Amino acid sequence: MKTKILKINPKKIDLDKIKIAAEVIKKGNLVAFPTETVYGLGADALNEEAVTKIFQAKKRPFNDPLIVHIADIEELHRLSKQVPSVVLKLAKAFWPGPLTLVLKKSELVLDIITAGLDTVAIRMPANNIALSLIREAKNPIVAPSANLFGRTSPTNAQHVVDDLDGKIEMIIDGGKTKVGVESTVLDITARPVRVLRAGGISVEQLKEVIGQVKIGEELERGFRSPGMLISHYSPYARLILVEDKGEAQVEKARRLASEYKAQGFKVGIMAKEENQNKYNGFEVKVIGKGAELEMCATNLFSTLRSFDKEGFEIIIAEGLEEQGLGLAIMERLRKAAAPK
Ligand code: TXA
Ligand code: MG
Repeated sequence: MKTKILKINPKKIDLDKIKIAAEVIKKGNLVAFPTETVYGLGADALNEEAVTKIFQAKKRPFNDPLIVHIADIEELHRLSKQVPSVVLKLAKAFWPGPLTLVLKKSELVLDIITAGLDTVAIRMPANNIALSLIREAKNPIVAPSANLFGRTSPTNAQHVVDDLDGKIEMIIDGGKTKVGVESTVLDITARPVRVLRAGGISVEQLKEVIGQVKIGEELERGFRSPGMLISHYSPYARLILVEDKGEAQVEKARRLASEYKAQGFKVGIMAKEENQNKYNGFEVKVIGKGAELEMCATNLFSTLRSFDKEGFEIIIAEGLEEQGLGLAIMERLRKAAAPK
């Protein structure tokens, strides 16, 4: 299959182009499109055959459920048979935006989307290309991140090309994504509500709106024993995460880099801007200022992918503060560092 690339200016949306892409979705084929978080791989949520194609293109196991994207809050009531008031409160505060809510599903939601669970994950993306595409397609759109399963998520159209060229019908190129990490996944059916995946809306922001929020056990367990985590978000290079703080972190990163370099590996260091000059003699890429975690999130996946493009075999990554978007960044770095 020849993948068509459709360039759309996110600031001045050409509705005729959106309609072309929507036709592809309506015909039951796949379109990759930008959201504010990462690029998604979209299919008509009500078309089982189309949804199946997503799993095939990504090589994604069928036991990993998908997020349904909506453009209109009314869709919530079609997709879920129970919409508690906390959902409306959260939607009002954060939609459109990088927050996914897990709710009891309605009969309309296909089992293939939810991996047989009785819940469905729903979000309204804050990206005008995504929202117009959903509206023109006339149905909600299911979309996982548009990468091969287990790999680094795509934050620009070229990343999607690198993973899925020839495997999908169309890619909408709407430039770089803003947030850079995926949406926060929040389980509304749990009491108190539970964060299943850290992401673009921070735990601090959630607490401001609904008070009590529990960090999911999986996340918590992961924090205690990163070695146990299932590998995900992985670059092709081996990633080693250095979680020490301050000068101890720099020292350890430098020591590890020297050791691997001496063994003949092509080694790169992903560092905070304030530390970049402390790695003389090594190849360094800057993720951002340690205090600017939003910028670091925006740059995270594209920095990891650029190490891969340049053939690095080992990435030594400095850990960041676990507050705000730092929690989402660290969750991803730990999974990327987990053995494959
Ligand atoms: O920002 C995002 O969320 C991006 C963009 C494209 O919207 N999408 C994304 O999708 O990251 P994906 O498929 O890569 O991740 C979906 C996550 C998975 O961790 C999945 O297990 C979880 O959402 N999920 C989906 N349905 C669920 C459900 N019913 N219960 C619990 N977790 C669910
Ligand atoms: Mg993903």
